[in-house]
Amino acid sequence: MEILHFSPSSSISTIIHRPRRKIMALRDSIKTQMNLITTESVSSFRFCPCGRRHFIGAAMTSMPFLPISPSHASTSTEDLKRLRPPKPDWYEEFFAWSMNSEVESYEKEVSDYKMKLFDNLVGKAEKVLEIGIGTGPNFKYYTDIPNVSVIGIDPNAKMESYARKSATEAGLKPEEFTFVHALGESIPLEDASVDAVVGTLVLCSVTDVTQTLKEIKRILRPGGIYIFIEHVAAEDGTFLRLVQTVLDPLQQVVADGCHLTRHTGESILEARFNGGADVKKTSLSRLAYISSHVYGVAYN
Ligand SMILES: C[S@@+](CC[C@H](N)C(=O)[O-])C[C@H]1O[C@@H](n2cnc3c(N)ncnc32)[C@H](O)[C@@H]1O
Repeated sequence: MEILHFSPSSSISTIIHRPRRKIMALRDSIKTQMNLITTESVSSFRFCPCGRRHFIGAAMTSMPFLPISPSHASTSTEDLKRLRPPKPDWYEEFFAWSMNSEVESYEKEVSDYKMKLFDNLVGKAEKVLEIGIGTGPNFKYYTDIPNVSVIGIDPNAKMESYARKSATEAGLKPEEFTFVHALGESIPLEDASVDAVVGTLVLCSVTDVTQTLKEIKRILRPGGIYIFIEHVAAEDGTFLRLVQTVLDPLQQVVADGCHLTRHTGESILEARFNGGADVKKTSLSRLAYISSHVYGVAYN
């Protein structure tokens, strides 16, 4: 971070002794520096200067004291509308509440898988992006990662309060977690700016799986790690697959766009991560029609 040494008070005392044009130049420079300092202090991630300023605006919702105009959030709103038509507030609230209430038994069942997946990040990742962070069931796994800072993106703004509560309960400091109202298909971060991406039960819900995987590759630094666990379509020709096919349209309505018949493991392999991907299949016994899962690690 280049501008750590900026001090408003020392700059103001210097201004008093300068002619007007220099004062204006200095004022602009101070403004720029304050914005940069502000965005850097939201987290230590590198922000994208290419018109993805909505990230900054979105971060403002959690840090309202920062001197950045909320109008920077407009791009995000456009992207959100284009890629994911707005849903009524009550629906988003209900879905967030139900995810929060129902998550416990699922989390018990997948905890061994998640522990192993997150082990891959210990000592190798500090800046982590979680896509579709939801209510934040993964925070307990982040606490073993030294110096971790997490950005969680989710298009459902109602997830934020639940995610914040989970982060606090897991022992993360407020500055170690930033919630951003954004989509996996349009991640408001610079290229190669994070060490790891985490995705759990999210590629079932994004509108465009291929585009989301492209974005994950783009923002991961070379050698960066993507860990995932996702529910997927059961084997072709099985009774379970038939049930999934029948229930799929209803599931999309009641579970905020969640698909039951995606071949997510294949999609991850087809995304061709530079360092390859290790995709494993498993069947979780207690999960009825979402029992088929893939989990694993991909290397950028
Ligand atoms: C089934 S929930 C899983 C939440 C959390 N990852 C977990 O493991 O409990 C799916 C999440 O993906 C989010 N989501 C839906 N569409 C998305 C998109 N296009 N990009 C990112 N997240 C999305 C939803 O708002 C929701 O929080």
